[in-house]
Amino acid sequence: MSDSVRPMIELLYARQTDDLTSSDQFRALEEGRLSREGYDQFVANVIRAHRHSPQLLAFLFALAPPVARERVKRNLLEEMGIEDKAAHPALLVRLAEGVGLAPALTELDRLSQEMLRVAASQRLQFGTLKEIGLAVMVEVFAFEYMLSKTADRIAKALAGHRGLDATALEWFTHHGVMDKRHAEEAFATIDDYVTYYDIPLVEALNIAEMSMRVNPFTTRYFSELPLAQLKAMSVC
Ligand SMILES: [Fe+2]
Ligand SMILES: [Fe+2]
Repeated sequence: MSDSVRPMIELLYARQTDDLTSSDQFRALEEGRLSREGYDQFVANVIRAHRHSPQLLAFLFALAPPVARERVKRNLLEEMGIEDKAAHPALLVRLAEGVGLAPALTELDRLSQEMLRVAASQRLQFGTLKEIGLAVMVEVFAFEYMLSKTADRIAKALAGHRGLDATALEWFTHHGVMDKRHAEEAFATIDDYVTYYDIPLVEALNIAEMSMRVNPFTTRYFSELPLAQLKAMSVC
């Protein structure tokens, strides 16, 4: 048996990404069958899911093993815009502006922060921080994998069916390119982590499966948000 968890985790990621892209909602998004509100709801969900991405990467950086530290640090600095042309949460502001949700950003940020609060307040599923760290890592890196495959498709759909321009869509087009590298690095970092913290392979795979048991992509991107309320904030 290989001592790398990559094959199994890649399979998990590929399966959940397929579930996303073959879901009714994703197909409707690509085929232009969502209402205008449906597209805006999707965009609001993406903003909520990713506005606090630097905080999640900072958590992973804190636990990164020495051999992976530089790699995770560069990813974090790119996310913050220190080693990239713009901070990624700032690109989400342009996306919000594109669909007229800029005035609702404070509320979207509150909802995004609330997601972190709920996640941090849950009864712990695992007994040690190294296990929790692996579960968070598997889920955060899953988004890099999924976006490396879907971000360009989503950008094309939002341009064609919601009329968003290149500036508004830069968060997607940027991740479509950059997350190809990040997804590759993610597999190396997960292997480094499992080795450094001496987590038995079977246990690591168990944790990975548990953290991906519910599809994080469809859950985050297609949940109900109080769009009417958010839009109301946009006109006052
Ligand atoms: Fe990013
Ligand atoms: Fe990334």
